[in-house]
Amino acid sequence: MRKPIIAGNWKMNKTAAEAKELVNELKPLVKDAECDVVVCVPFTDIYAVAEAVKGSNIRLGAQNVHFADHGAFTGEISADMLLEAGVEYVIIGHSERRQYFGETDETVNKRTLTALAKGLKPIVCVGESLEERETGKTEAVLKAQIVNGLKDVEDITKVVVAYEPIWAIGTGKTATAEQANETIAFIRKTIAENFCPKCAEKVRIQYGGSMNAKNAHELMSMPEIDGGLIGGASLKAEDFSIVVKM
Ligand code: 13P
Repeated sequence: MRKPIIAGNWKMNKTAAEAKELVNELKPLVKDAECDVVVCVPFTDIYAVAEAVKGSNIRLGAQNVHFADHGAFTGEISADMLLEAGVEYVIIGHSERRQYFGETDETVNKRTLTALAKGLKPIVCVGESLEERETGKTEAVLKAQIVNGLKDVEDITKVVVAYEPIWAIGTGKTATAEQANETIAFIRKTIAENFCPKCAEKVRIQYGGSMNAKNAHELMSMPEIDGGLIGGASLKAEDFSIVVKM
């Protein structure tokens, strides 16, 4: 009942020319996909990729959005700027933003509320560090990220949640399918308890962290996992298309 969504998070990779090349390679490979296919590209690639995906089933995403409409926020990008450029999805609160750029549950919340109000589809990232997992804090950390990060969201079904354990990102160390499934089930329960039980069943929750052509099938066959947020493996058309077809 939940349509899977596979999104590539290109992070800070690909110039506009390289982006166009990658998308053109990807288009025929994913054209029959049964899931939603999204590429979240750097800001400077957005116009080139918007043009390249026209008429295809690939949807365009960005990697951040500011909460203000406009103003003195050097280096930031507004929802209107993204929308005008053809962006539909936006990643919010990726652990790299939290770790290196001071993103907090509060700023995640503000960005998410603005994205929703403007009609962008937020992909909100949550996840625990290795230390938090090893000291038994995973559930408390995730609960705080969900409750505070999604505070005041009226229609939670419009949000895609990405569960990305920090220790699995870019490390080649994936959570086991059971671990990911169990943790995502906990996230869904948290949404049910703090927002609305019926809606929780409709919220799509992705797994992210070293997901690739080899392990995607096992992860995607788990009942709670509704897709993936793919980093490294989304930079190669062939690999990403294999994940999409799982
Ligand atoms: P990797 O797939 O490279 O581990 O990155 C995951 C990620 O952070 C996606 O947002």
